[in-house]
Amino acid sequence: MALMNKFPSVPDLEARAFQRMPKFAWDYLAGGAGDEKGLVHNRAVYDCVRFVADYLPEKRQPDTKHTVFGRNYNFPFGVAPVGQSGLIWPRSSEYLAAAAKKANIPFCLSMLATSSIETIGTIAGANAWFQLYPLRDPGVTKSILDRAKQAGFSTLLVTVDTPAGRRTLRDQRNGLTVPPRLSIANIARMFTHPAWLAATIEQGLPKFETMMPYYPKGADITGVAALQNTLLARGMDLKGLEVVRKLWDGPMLCKGIMSPSDAKDCVSIGVEGALLSNHGGRQSESLVSPLETLARVRDAVGDKLTLAVDSGSRSGLDVARAMALGADFVFMGRAFMFAVAALGKAGADHVADLLGIEFTQAMGQIGCYEIKNLPRYLATNTGTVWPNNRTN
Ligand SMILES: Cc1cc2nc3c(=O)[nH]c(=O)nc-3n(C[C@H](O)[C@H](O)[C@H](O)COP(=O)(O)O)c2cc1C
Repeated sequence: MALMNKFPSVPDLEARAFQRMPKFAWDYLAGGAGDEKGLVHNRAVYDCVRFVADYLPEKRQPDTKHTVFGRNYNFPFGVAPVGQSGLIWPRSSEYLAAAAKKANIPFCLSMLATSSIETIGTIAGANAWFQLYPLRDPGVTKSILDRAKQAGFSTLLVTVDTPAGRRTLRDQRNGLTVPPRLSIANIARMFTHPAWLAATIEQGLPKFETMMPYYPKGADITGVAALQNTLLARGMDLKGLEVVRKLWDGPMLCKGIMSPSDAKDCVSIGVEGALLSNHGGRQSESLVSPLETLARVRDAVGDKLTLAVDSGSRSGLDVARAMALGADFVFMGRAFMFAVAALGKAGADHVADLLGIEFTQAMGQIGCYEIKNLPRYLATNTGTVWPNNRTN
């Protein structure tokens, strides 16, 4: 209760995270591509979505349970994959995986997180989903997917929205580059954030644990250069996605989709879902919000694809907004990470509780008691949610 009063919203956690993190880590988490107008746009679109409430029908407790890919979850939201998680806060992936298991929501582990597949599988079991980036060597892809299966991960996300290097200017200025530049200013910033520094010393240098078996001999200890120069591929085409489809025996979503044509391509090779995403505004400042493109994608594929969204959601109310617009599921990256950076392990449990309470209240407040009925409460005249002129 004390935490709920002190940090009653994700922005409260965000403000605390800002105080506790060294600037380079904060900028890595909070920043976006280019001039960061994409970040602002993602939020603005959510803020446009409004409801018309019904107050007089008989009152009930909203049913927030939701089934996706045959699995029952307590809420229709989950933790999006976040790479370099240990730089943001040591062991953040482990804390969030445990909180997700407890709250019975999905936790998606990034291939580039600093906790391994095996560690997270032990913590979260089938609540664990795995996110794969395109790799140059299909042998490495197969090995990673075999490990995820072995560790009990239930669902695969394949991220396809990184075909070109991104321009995250804050990271460039801070020296979070390949190879990283450890400036005197960054060292000083670590010492002025003692909780982060103590946790980092205890945990050791964050490494890409899942990827370590594949580094070439002589790779540097952080593994950043080895990843960029020898392991990661730039984006993935349909043929590449089909190869992964054949390697993964289980539900699979393509992450980063926003066009109807890409969505139809996913259907054509037997992919079951798409996570409509602009990568939280981190790849380009000029992309539409997934909320703006959701209706067109739905028109193109109907219910042949499960359509999840992310990018900009910061509350249970936002989850209700996205579900009302027709999403089947909602992921959040920064909202969860802010909480761990603010409060460590306790933050992971707190934010899962908080988002659940907010979502339940958002439904109850408009008189909606079943998730599938949320679209009925959507106001249709609230401004610029659909400025999407693309027709294919
Ligand atoms: C710090 C950070 C690291 C990320 N790393 C990855 C990653 O490794 N793989 C991936 O597919 N998406 C990654 N993403 C994107 C998220 O999965 C998700 O699409 C995004 O955070 C959603 O936007 P939101 O933060 O506004 O919720 C990252 C996002 C952040 C903020």
